[in-house]
Amino acid sequence: MPERVREDIPLLGGEDAPVYFDNACMTLKPRPVIEALTAYYEKMPVCAGRSTHALARRVGEHVEASRAAVSGFLGADRPSEVVFTKNTTEALNLAARGLGLEAGSTVLTTDREHNSNLVPFQRLEKVHHEAVRGTREGEVDLEAWKQRLERGDVSLVSVCHMSNLDGYKVPVGAIAEIAHDHGALVLVDGAQSAPHMPVDVHALGVDLFAFSVHKMMGPTGVGVLWGREDVLEGMEPLVSGGSTIETTRLDGHTLRDPPGRFEAGLQGFGGLVATRAAVEYVDGLGLKEVQEHEERLSLRLQEGLEERGVTVIGASRAKGNGIVSFTLEDVGIHELAILLEDKGGVLVRSGLHCLDSWFYEQGLEGSCRASLYAYNTLREVEHMLGVIDEIQAALGG
Ligand SMILES: Cc1ncc(COP(=O)(O)O)c(C=O)c1O
Repeated sequence: MPERVREDIPLLGGEDAPVYFDNACMTLKPRPVIEALTAYYEKMPVCAGRSTHALARRVGEHVEASRAAVSGFLGADRPSEVVFTKNTTEALNLAARGLGLEAGSTVLTTDREHNSNLVPFQRLEKVHHEAVRGTREGEVDLEAWKQRLERGDVSLVSVCHMSNLDGYKVPVGAIAEIAHDHGALVLVDGAQSAPHMPVDVHALGVDLFAFSVHKMMGPTGVGVLWGREDVLEGMEPLVSGGSTIETTRLDGHTLRDPPGRFEAGLQGFGGLVATRAAVEYVDGLGLKEVQEHEERLSLRLQEGLEERGVTVIGASRAKGNGIVSFTLEDVGIHELAILLEDKGGVLVRSGLHCLDSWFYEQGLEGSCRASLYAYNTLREVEHMLGVIDEIQAALGG
C-alpha cells in the first residue's frame, strides 16, 4: 500500500523526498485532493447557497456530496448531521458553547487531552471542568470514571479517541455507556482516530464526534462536528449571521435547522469541495489496512528506539498505534528534532504537542514525536533508526 500512495503524493516523488513523520499534526495531500481543489478554483470559484445561477448550484452540489461522503465515512444516519467547521478545535468549541450546558454542572475529560479538548471547557463561565485521572500506567481508569459519574452532576463527557502523544486508544465505548447511564452527553475528539482507524459513531455509542479533514490527506481549513440529529437541534451556533438564519426582522430572527445554522458566512468552498476526494481516497485505501500498516511500522520504530536506549514515553501498553514519543538523554528535544532533519531529512515534531497539562503533571519538558501514515515505509523507519545511531555516535554514546 505505501508505494501506491506515495506515487499519488507529489512531495514524495523526488530523490530528496523528506521522511515525513509529522502526520499527527498534518498529513500530505494526494493528487485527487489537489485536483479537486484546482477544479474548484478553475471551474467554479464562486459561493454556494446564495445565488441561483448554475455555477453556484454546482458548488452547492459538490459541498453536499462532501457532506454525504463524511456522513457515510462515520456511519451516520444522514448528511444533515454533519456540520463543517474550520478544524477539530472549532468543532469542539462549537459543542462546548453551543450545547448550553446547565449552570453548575461538570464537564469530565481524561487527564491526557489536547488543549483543544481542554481549554474550551476551562473557559466556560458557569460550568466546572474536571479531569479524571488515569492509572499509574497512563491508561483510563474505568472504575474512577464510574465513581465520578455516580455523583450525578456531569452534563458532558468529552474524551479523545486516540491520544496524539502515544496513539493510546481511549475506551470510548465503555466510557459512553457509563456516561449515558448517568445522564451525560458524550463528545469525542476524533482528530487522531478518524484518519487512522475505522470509526462508526453508532457502534461507539456517542452523541458528538469531531475531527479534522487536513489530518486525513484532505485540504486545510476543513473540520467536522458530527452530532445526533436531536442533539444538534438543541444547540446554539458559535458564530451567527449570514447563512445561519431562516428569516430576520429588525427585532429578531429565526435560526435555520442544522447544519445550516452552524455554518456562518461564506465558507472555504475549495476545501469543502475537495473534502469528498479526501474521504473517498482514505476509504479506498481501507482504514483497517491503514491501521495495520501503521501498527507494523510503529512497533518496529518503538522496538528499535528502545534497543538503542532511547526513552519512549506514554502509556505502557500504547504500542503500535502509529505515534511514538521519545526523548534522548543529554540531548534537548528541539536539538534532537533538528539533528534528525539535518542528518537524515527526517521530519518529526518536538515540544509539548498541545498536551501541556499532561507534560506538566509528569514533570517532563516535552518530547520528540514520530507519527506515521499510510505512505510511510519500513525503509523510512529503518532510516530514522540509522540516523539515531549516527547522532548517538556523534555524541560519543
Ligand atoms: C487529539 C487532538 N485533538 C485536537 C487537535 C486539534 O486539531 P486541529 O488543530 O485540526 O483543530 C489535534 C491536533 O493536533 C489533536 O491531535
